[in-house]
Amino acid sequence: MTATSPRLKHEVKDLALAPLGRQRIEWAGREMPVLRQIRDRFAQEKPFAGIRLVACCHVTTETANLAITLKAGGADALLIASNPLSTQDDVAACLVSDYEIPVFAIKGEDTETYNRHVQIALDHRPNIIIDDGCDVVATLVQQRQHQLADIIGTTEETTTGILRLRAMFKDGVLTFPAINVNDADTKHLFDNRYGTGQSTIDGIIRATNILLAGKTVVVAGYGWCGKGTAMRARGLGANVIVTEVDPVKAIEAAMDGFRVLPMVEAATVGDLFITVTGNKHVIRDEHFDVMKDGAIVCNSGHFDIEIDLKALAAKTQEIKTVRPFTQEYRLGNGKSIVVLGEGRLINLAAAEGHPSAVMDMSFANQALGCKYLIENQGKLQPGIHPIPAEVDREIAYLKLQAMGIKIDVLTPEQIEYINSWTSGT
Ligand SMILES: NC(=O)c1ccc[n+]([C@@H]2O[C@H](COP(=O)([O-])OP(=O)(O)OC[C@H]3O[C@@H](n4cnc5c(N)ncnc54)[C@H](O)[C@@H]3O)[C@@H](O)[C@H]2O)c1
Repeated sequence: MTATSPRLKHEVKDLALAPLGRQRIEWAGREMPVLRQIRDRFAQEKPFAGIRLVACCHVTTETANLAITLKAGGADALLIASNPLSTQDDVAACLVSDYEIPVFAIKGEDTETYNRHVQIALDHRPNIIIDDGCDVVATLVQQRQHQLADIIGTTEETTTGILRLRAMFKDGVLTFPAINVNDADTKHLFDNRYGTGQSTIDGIIRATNILLAGKTVVVAGYGWCGKGTAMRARGLGANVIVTEVDPVKAIEAAMDGFRVLPMVEAATVGDLFITVTGNKHVIRDEHFDVMKDGAIVCNSGHFDIEIDLKALAAKTQEIKTVRPFTQEYRLGNGKSIVVLGEGRLINLAAAEGHPSAVMDMSFANQALGCKYLIENQGKLQPGIHPIPAEVDREIAYLKLQAMGIKIDVLTPEQIEYINSWTSGT
């Protein structure tokens, strides 16, 4: 059901869900002290006065805290979902009815609706785009060249979006600055590793309620998300196997104590498979053929292309939903394979995404990244720019302060020593 309001254009499931959304947004806000400080500052300084801003993010309690922060800073902000399955409908309802932020997002929306929402976001004529996976920016560049003059820049949240932006830059079509939020230390070291690690396991458990102790879990990809996922699966007693294509990451996994195998071998022994590579068809036809009866497959990478579900469907006689977000594919050979969350990121499909404490830092980077774009309007070249190191460090200091952790400071003697080359053995 789509709710409509005469006051504010929006598309959410049901505005009556707003009170629950408000409770949950406020609960998440308790774990987001850095973003809260930024919000207080923005409310005074109004850095986004007169700025039209579109955010294409997972519509979660944490994103709500970001949207409220941007609005406090004066932004004319509109929010759409960055994935058809990741929207929390109560959060979307609350943002519309309590905060007057237009939201176009409904959990389970079809691809056509998702794409229509991207068009609605572009109809807002944004000056700044906060993207998570680069769908809005790619659509802008492909279909709305006439709006490029409005754009001050974009900030990109995730690894997959950064890969797409790099490809756009290489093709000469990225004509405005893009801030690489993903690669800030205070983002990927915590969000991708601890956030994805914990919430991926959370999604799997909520979808299946299986015991991980004693299971053989295959993690495809040993990047930041893979490291976190493998670490947490091991912590729950699973025997973890890692698959990789990068020789250095493979050594790292081996020295971290994991078995490393090619997928075609891991496929024969795994009970549960988790893809987190950002790549396509990492689990495919040849792997399904050799999997054990009842093997469970899921994905926590950005897009639903890591598991070749078309190939699986082609050898399937019947698909049965056995629990929410859990579908059993009965194959022609008599075996079955269980797919979680339709192959979409399981931590957002079946659970609530990353815990707020990590999103506090990710979204502090987003908020300050947008401010940086405005302060440097006309000065930044088209292309991909890092979050400035001083912003990254400021966020780390604020987070430490909020966690009540104190650290040492360099003495003048130490500063001199580490900047000199004359004193050796
Ligand atoms: N679920 C979430 O909430 C969430 C959060 C952050 C990032 N992501 C997404 O997760 C994905 C991974 O992100 P990351 O930051 O870990 O990236 P990363 O670049 O650090 O790691 C990806 C790893 O996958 C490996 N890889 C690529 N193709 C492979 C293949 N065919 N088989 C095995 N390994 C392969 C790469 O060598 C690399 O080590 C991206 O799509 C990213 O956007 C999801």
